[in-house]
Amino acid sequence: MLRSILGLIILSIIRRNEHDIVNVYDTFSNLMRIATGGKLLNFGYWTKDITNPLQAQIQLTKLFGVYGSFDTAQTILDVGSGFSIPALHWIHSYSNLKIYCLNISLKQLKSANSDILRNQPSESVNLNLNSIPNIYNRIFHINSTSTSMPFRNESVERIAAFESAQHFKPMAQFIHESNRILKNSGQLIMAMPVMTNDSDLMPFSKSYNLGILAVTWASEHYSVRMLESLLLKDGFELSKVEYIGENIYGPLAEFYIQNRDKLRSEITKEYPKFLEIILYKSMVKMKVAFDRNFIDYVLIKAIKR
Ligand SMILES: C[S@@+](CC[C@H](N)C(=O)[O-])C[C@H]1O[C@@H](n2cnc3c(N)ncnc32)[C@H](O)[C@@H]1O
Repeated sequence: MLRSILGLIILSIIRRNEHDIVNVYDTFSNLMRIATGGKLLNFGYWTKDITNPLQAQIQLTKLFGVYGSFDTAQTILDVGSGFSIPALHWIHSYSNLKIYCLNISLKQLKSANSDILRNQPSESVNLNLNSIPNIYNRIFHINSTSTSMPFRNESVERIAAFESAQHFKPMAQFIHESNRILKNSGQLIMAMPVMTNDSDLMPFSKSYNLGILAVTWASEHYSVRMLESLLLKDGFELSKVEYIGENIYGPLAEFYIQNRDKLRSEITKEYPKFLEIILYKSMVKMKVAFDRNFIDYVLIKAIKR
């Protein structure tokens, strides 16, 4: 196990192709489950009233729905849908919504599908699936990649990339596909970690600043400036950008530090010790990188014109 995990970490830093990303998630999503107590795969939005990662993740999910004005949409394509828990929350909150969950990981999609059929996720996400009317006709699973999405032109009102677009490569191809699939005035909504504009000047200083974070942040390192220029090039109007790193990195690291003993003993039942050390160090590093203004976390809304 030690060897295969080390190999995977090395490939995910150096090569970072789609196959490596799928392997990273298939190998480590259980680690997330141990650390958070649920099947959501995002960092969460932390405010004073939040006491654990699962609550923070649900809060970020709700915030994303409000930010994307999901109340005025009927069809959403959720690209990088994880275990479809965000989609379940959204169809629970917005009664007119139908969601297509597109994910490159077949394993996650299968697990999501069987959870829904068995009514499973209720305990882990504080959601009663029985209270979602017509659930089987409102959530659909598609195994594909962000750069080639099997949808008709101008067929959906929103495309959501909820903490997933940091993996999409090439980003321009995803934006192009989104433009094709969205109806006119449709919205592309993204939540993602980004490099701050100042730090994307030199690739070397970027890796240096990220340090051990480059190990766990096995994704592309986009900046808002880069995203903005790709969106404008493809006919999108950038309607809103919100920087919310303050509510993400610091409190998440703080939670981990305060609960480390308990988390370490749970994690090391299934994973080698060094992995927990990497996780701990990268949490701390992430906070430092945010405090030094190397990274941030953004919500982006772009409208198709
Ligand atoms: C950080 S997780 C977020 C999942 C989910 N949005 C959530 O909050 O629980 C990123 C997701 O993107 C998916 N993903 C990564 N690269 C992808 C790609 N190129 N196309 C589609 N999905 C992708 C991963 O399998 C994973 O489900």
